[in-house]
Amino acid sequence: MVKFKDFDKDFSLKDKVFIVTGGAGGIGRVIGGFFSQKGAKGALVDISPKVHETAEKLGLEGIAADLTKPGEPETTVAKTAETFGRLDILVNCAGIGPLAKAEDMPEEVWDRTIAINLRVPFLMAQQAAKAMIGQGGGRIINMASQAGIVAIDGHLAYTTSKAGLIGMTKSMAFEWGKHGITVNAISPTVVNTELSTGGTYWVGEVAARALADTPVGRFGEPEEVAALCAYLASDAAALITGANIVIDGGYTIH
Ligand SMILES: NC(=O)c1ccc[n+]([C@@H]2O[C@H](COP(=O)([O-])OP(=O)(O)OC[C@H]3O[C@@H](n4cnc5c(N)ncnc54)[C@H](O)[C@@H]3O)[C@@H](O)[C@H]2O)c1
Repeated sequence: MVKFKDFDKDFSLKDKVFIVTGGAGGIGRVIGGFFSQKGAKGALVDISPKVHETAEKLGLEGIAADLTKPGEPETTVAKTAETFGRLDILVNCAGIGPLAKAEDMPEEVWDRTIAINLRVPFLMAQQAAKAMIGQGGGRIINMASQAGIVAIDGHLAYTTSKAGLIGMTKSMAFEWGKHGITVNAISPTVVNTELSTGGTYWVGEVAARALADTPVGRFGEPEEVAALCAYLASDAAALITGANIVIDGGYTIH
């Protein structure tokens, strides 16, 4: 049980071992950097070979892997546990957000979105939990989205995958709480990365409308999402599990 005697210590990630998937991406690499600043060590995993350079700059391990390939989630978790001797934190952050009108959504785009955004987090969490159960606990954080709560035009497969991730989070939290594992989802608004504001959708008229519907009047920054992750990963957050924590400037409150 956490006694809030020493804020620095309770909120610290000192010597914790983590995996962040999508670690070469806009949000994932900032989470890895924050965790490292807070004293943790671990691995960034990404399909992009850029992950090696990103990890090296942060003093972390880089693992290049397509996590949809059979056996890759198992290998990734095993490799990290072998290198660092344990696994305390998994952040499922890899994701894609292809857009198509619902009536035109190609089957293969649907399948790939569900595979990366939902099946991979399931397999990664399953492997991580096996390691965590043996060591008395851990933290699993699933990167969902406000699009898992409200409909957004053209986001059928994405919304479905993120809503599924929020449901999966509750189910895992329910089963693994007794092992000292907390499982939580984070649902950000549009965050300034290449996936979103760096692309072609969240610009112009669409961006202006979304901002008009956002009480704080701006999109998010990766650092704001990383700060929430760091809190959820810390000992101080031991009582929070099965939650979907919305970090959206108020977009979904009305
Ligand atoms: N940026 C936003 O506006 C926003 C908002 C809400 C939620 N999210 C979620 O946050 C997460 C990170 O988003 P981001 O903006 O950093 O996107 P990003 O595209 O910058 O990063 C995603 C990373 O996932 C990696 N990836 C994709 N497929 C993979 C696979 N098969 N195996 C391993 N890695 C793979 C990509 O190479 C990429 O580096 C995603 O799950 C996204 O859905 C983002």
